Amino acid sequence: MARRRGPGLGLVAALVAVAAAGCRERAAPVAPPAGEDLARGRGVVAELKKQLVGRLTAELASGIPGAIAVCNTEAPAIAAGLSVDGVEVGRATRKPRNPANRAAGWTAEALTRFEKMVTDGRDLAGASFSRRLPDGRTAYAEPLVVQPMCLACHGAQLAPDVTAALAERYPQDEATGYQAGDLRGLVWVELPAAP
Ligand code: HEC
Repeated sequence: MARRRGPGLGLVAALVAVAAAGCRERAAPVAPPAGEDLARGRGVVAELKKQLVGRLTAELASGIPGAIAVCNTEAPAIAAGLSVDGVEVGRATRKPRNPANRAAGWTAEALTRFEKMVTDGRDLAGASFSRRLPDGRTAYAEPLVVQPMCLACHGAQLAPDVTAALAERYPQDEATGYQAGDLRGLVWVELPAAP
């Protein structure tokens, strides 16, 4: 998500300008996302989850190292397949296997929200995060929770051939040591602004 970035100098300059104006003027409120955008975001997230789990289940049946190879190319391919008509979709986490998936910008904020739910003892099932971005696009995310089938590649103890296959492709892998039920990250979607 090339567009994702933290508060830049432009924002700092704007804040300074507002402060200089004695805070007399407030930024125009950003309208919340429209219901139909949220429904569309939910649909894209559901489709990504369905396709990924489907491919993983099929590939795990024929061996984990092979499934890793598939995951390596297919997860981005599935996301790319769903990223049409100005929609962008992907996964983000604090502990990435693929460094490109490290949460930043609004996805890091969404993760903070989900992490707070976990510390507060609230159920992540059905949880979501949404927001209208400053450029008018709609941001939508749902948490990804570790299931038993994920542990073969993200758990605390991996088979030696899995460790070897991961080390070959992901020398900076941080995405192990999880237990079933842990918050692993999120699926994010950005939808285009209404014309
Ligand atoms: C066969 C091994 C395997 C299994 C099983 C597996 N994953 Fe992964 N996972 C990977 C690989 C490989 C990547 C890196 C993909 C890439 O390069 O984009 C990854 C990446 C991810 C990411 C993206 C963030 C990151 O760390 O790069 C998330 C989120 C994720 N997995 C969650 C899950 C969940 C949830 C499950 C269970 C439903 C699961 N995985 C099962 C191998 C696996």
